[in-house]
Amino acid sequence: MHTRTESTKRPAQARSADLPGALSLLETLNRVARSLCYVEGPHPPSEAVVQGARSLLQADGVAILVREPTGDYLIRVAHGLVAEWRDYALSGTCSALLDTLHERDQVVLFKRTQRSPWAREFLFAAGVHWGALAPIRVRGQNVGALLVNNRRAVHVRAEHVEALEALATLAGVAIVEGRVRLGLEDLFMSVIVSLTMALEAKDPYTEGHSVRVAAYSEAIGKQLGLPAATLDLIHRSCLLHDIGKIAVDEHILSKKDRLSAVEREKLDMHVLIGESILRPIALLHPLLPGVRHHHEHFDGTGYPDGLKGEAIPIEARIMAVADAFDAMTSSRPYRVAMPEWEALAELRRTAGTQFDPRVVAAFEQIYPAVKRTLEHMRPA
Ligand SMILES: [Fe+2]
Repeated sequence: MHTRTESTKRPAQARSADLPGALSLLETLNRVARSLCYVEGPHPPSEAVVQGARSLLQADGVAILVREPTGDYLIRVAHGLVAEWRDYALSGTCSALLDTLHERDQVVLFKRTQRSPWAREFLFAAGVHWGALAPIRVRGQNVGALLVNNRRAVHVRAEHVEALEALATLAGVAIVEGRVRLGLEDLFMSVIVSLTMALEAKDPYTEGHSVRVAAYSEAIGKQLGLPAATLDLIHRSCLLHDIGKIAVDEHILSKKDRLSAVEREKLDMHVLIGESILRPIALLHPLLPGVRHHHEHFDGTGYPDGLKGEAIPIEARIMAVADAFDAMTSSRPYRVAMPEWEALAELRRTAGTQFDPRVVAAFEQIYPAVKRTLEHMRPA
């Protein structure tokens, strides 16, 4: 791979002496490579790449651009000077230029004072004067690009460019690893959701319960202004919340009479069983709190841990309201469905004791709209 520098003159504010030496470059690359191996580490792999770029070139701004199947480049990660460009999609001239970068298969360096298309398109943030773009390739495929920006012009040496190329390769590993991870997560989720559906489908009284709880809960979360990542977590936790019932005796689940104390205790175990079913799958760990705590009560009288108030994870507080409402308004072997006005009144009555009052208030707001959407999903 060769370096192409658009400038032939030495930059006015060169500071190559300030940049790290060869040993330091190697240490940085090692650190990034090692952190990519720790999937369960505290920071996402892309974070390591960004930190690496910052220390390699004393960068003031770093972005990882990922090529989408549409041909656009999505700014997936953006730090420092270019932070506000995160989640923007680059299309048209920008994406065509980035495709050219891959054809050239080399790092491009550019600065604002040049009449260069690279400078025009990629020094977009205010105060940025110098930039470098490295193609991110994995097994010959164009995966994206690593963009590094600086406030001042930087005169880099060959070893810095090589280190940037190596970093782009590591960014490619992070991107591909992320895709594999998402694919695995989807696979695990679909297997477990199928198991839950199969469990519910055996019993006409509970068919579709988890899907309805998920729809109510996600809408409550949106009403409460929770971020998209939390809404996704809520949705997935709801689909799996009763997975532990797989291990509860069927005669308990379908019993027409009131449960004895022993039977009630066995049924209550489903939250712990559910947690232990999912625990071996590290990718599903974020879902465990919702599964474990969806029968806690706001006043601390619930199970399994007697957590109180905001100590109960928000997804569990939301799920508790949605779960209870759906259970009350569905027929069960031991009673007919409660009319919805009565179930809503029961939620209001127990807001502050069994349920988080904010969640109950949000549920009342979203219920009419979600009800219309769910109408067709109710079992006959
Ligand atoms: Fe449950």
